[in-house]
Amino acid sequence: MAPSPREATPKLSQAMDDCREKVNKTIANLLPATDLAEAPLFDAMRYAALSGGKRLRPFMVMEGARVFGVDAGRARRVAAAAEFVHCYSLAHDDLPAMDDSDLRRGKPSLHKAFDQATALLAGDALLTLAFEILADPDTHEDPRVRVELIANLAGAIGMHGMVGGQMLDLIGEKQEFDVGTISRMQRLKTGKLIAFCCEAGAILGRANPAHRQSLRNYAHDLGLAFQVTDDLLDATGTEQDLGKPVQADGKKSTFVSAMGIEQAKQRAQMLVDQAISHLRTFDEGRVDLLKDLARYVLERRV
Ligand code: IPE
Ligand code: IPE
Ligand code: MG
Ligand code: MG
Ligand code: MG
Repeated sequence: MAPSPREATPKLSQAMDDCREKVNKTIANLLPATDLAEAPLFDAMRYAALSGGKRLRPFMVMEGARVFGVDAGRARRVAAAAEFVHCYSLAHDDLPAMDDSDLRRGKPSLHKAFDQATALLAGDALLTLAFEILADPDTHEDPRVRVELIANLAGAIGMHGMVGGQMLDLIGEKQEFDVGTISRMQRLKTGKLIAFCCEAGAILGRANPAHRQSLRNYAHDLGLAFQVTDDLLDATGTEQDLGKPVQADGKKSTFVSAMGIEQAKQRAQMLVDQAISHLRTFDEGRVDLLKDLARYVLERRV
């Protein structure tokens, strides 16, 4: 299990621990466990999805859903779907053809524990499973809500989202990007899935457009702050804390390579302040954990 976040407030820490425990059960229940001949694929999917992780994206889904009074069981299915997408993205990101990283969540990366072909297939299967879950009436009885979730997730993670951002990330190894391009790359590769997670509760709860826009704005800034911090941790964190190699972004275009550690920290702080300010349209008690989460994203060491 992932270590508890060190800098989270006790209330946030407790809420994240609770969420992680419950979402892990949902994840385990949604994964196949059979002895069919293709079972190594299922083993690899379980390895990728149940080997720790902070489960920040599920927490965003669950907190967004709480704001709009959405049934927690339904929200947890969406949270699991988002985490499956995230786990697929990590499995592919670690492959030799991409970041060539052998350690993930303190364990051998998926392609090291299995092999490259299995890691590719398990990633593909986790991605597909996410959409199957969203399409299932157990996620929401209204097909329009289900289609909206599916369309939003597809938009967030495809060519104009995560995958496009990962392409830019590879191009940025050979070519020096300016800060504007780095910012766009990070918003695509990381920010858009985070935005989906923050907005999913509003979709499930059929929130009014103004509330939905506030959450979207919050997520927009939080998603970028999250990747800036990830880049900072690559430069300043430890392998022990992070469970993945550090100083691994050497060739890449990141905020740290473009503006240095201090300015990147200031940028992340500014983004987090901005993210929190977008929540002013909500009553304080409804969004206090989302505010704490934004501060934690900046302070985290894991
Ligand atoms: C790491 O994400 C990959 C990025 C998109 C920066 P997390 O830091 O959320 O990784 P886990 O899920 O906790 O392992
Ligand atoms: C990963 O970004 C983004 C996606 C997986 C889409 P990184 O390559 O920076 O993530 P880590 O540092 O390996 O976790
Ligand atoms: Mg990468
Ligand atoms: Mg990587
Ligand atoms: Mg990184």
